[in-house]
Amino acid sequence: MSVYSTEQFVDTVYLGDVLELLAQLPDKSVDMVYGDPDYNVGVKYEGKSYTRKFDEYIDWYIRLAKESLRVLKDDGNLFLINYPKQNAYLRVRYLDEACYEVQDYVWIYNTNIGHSPRRFTTAHRSVLHARKTRHNRFYKDQVAVPYQNPNDKRIRQRIAQGSKGRMPYSWFYFDLVKNVSHEKTKHPCQIPQGLYEMLLKASTRPGDIALILFGGSGSEIEVTRRLGRHFISAEIDPEYHRLIMERLKTGTVPADFKLRVPQRTSKPLQQPRLLEAAEKYSINEAKPS
Ligand SMILES: C[S@@+](CC[C@H](N)C(=O)[O-])C[C@H]1O[C@@H](n2cnc3c(N)ncnc32)[C@H](O)[C@@H]1O
Repeated sequence: MSVYSTEQFVDTVYLGDVLELLAQLPDKSVDMVYGDPDYNVGVKYEGKSYTRKFDEYIDWYIRLAKESLRVLKDDGNLFLINYPKQNAYLRVRYLDEACYEVQDYVWIYNTNIGHSPRRFTTAHRSVLHARKTRHNRFYKDQVAVPYQNPNDKRIRQRIAQGSKGRMPYSWFYFDLVKNVSHEKTKHPCQIPQGLYEMLLKASTRPGDIALILFGGSGSEIEVTRRLGRHFISAEIDPEYHRLIMERLKTGTVPADFKLRVPQRTSKPLQQPRLLEAAEKYSINEAKPS
């Protein structure tokens, strides 16, 4: 049992391993847990890699999920973003048994990297949604999508009864955070804020506590605070931790963490080669017959 109270951690970002933070949190103390971990595919953060053998990664992922469920209130919601294989293993080896229900949503995006001539290009991720009990709080009105056919008789009835729209589908399109986007920092793996905002609004109300397992660039923490929810988070890397703290303090990304997109230098116009050749012909030589 934890000797700490939740209040001690509210609106703070722990500098260190998230498993250490979790160990200190009391049972059933947060309204939502959200995790966008390292996916174990070789990404380097500030020159460090957290990649390990697949089995070791899944054992770690299970420990993380177990602790996350322990600190989650019974009517709360857990979301874990990852590549489909990692989430499939977590589900089958642990989550399906441990939870009342697990849903596997799909986040899709456009991409111009990772193409291969022998398979289709990966352009989606898995978002696991785990509920501890059948009584999870879920706020459709905060995320409802406007009806496409508001003049339909049945839809008109629903609107008259107060419905704000339909429940979002189990797949979502959000653009990856582009280099030119205002939310982009030097952090290599940012989740689009819109995606997190939808998960947060679907599962919390202002004043609730969201546990953001991996602080990263602070994108999700920023949204949480802007929407009047409380956050608890951890980030193991001191530089990213500094980025998050500065971002929270000043409301902007510190200058040394802004991504500088190389400006296109204007080169002198090149004469297209074919045109060049054609001109030579017309000026110096007779056209071939
Ligand atoms: C995929 S990124 C999260 C990015 C975040 N979603 C965002 O949009 O900025 C994972 C982050 O977790 C951090 N990290 C890795 N292992 C950790 C651990 N055991 N405890 C806390 N943070 C960790 C990494 O430094 C990295 O910043």
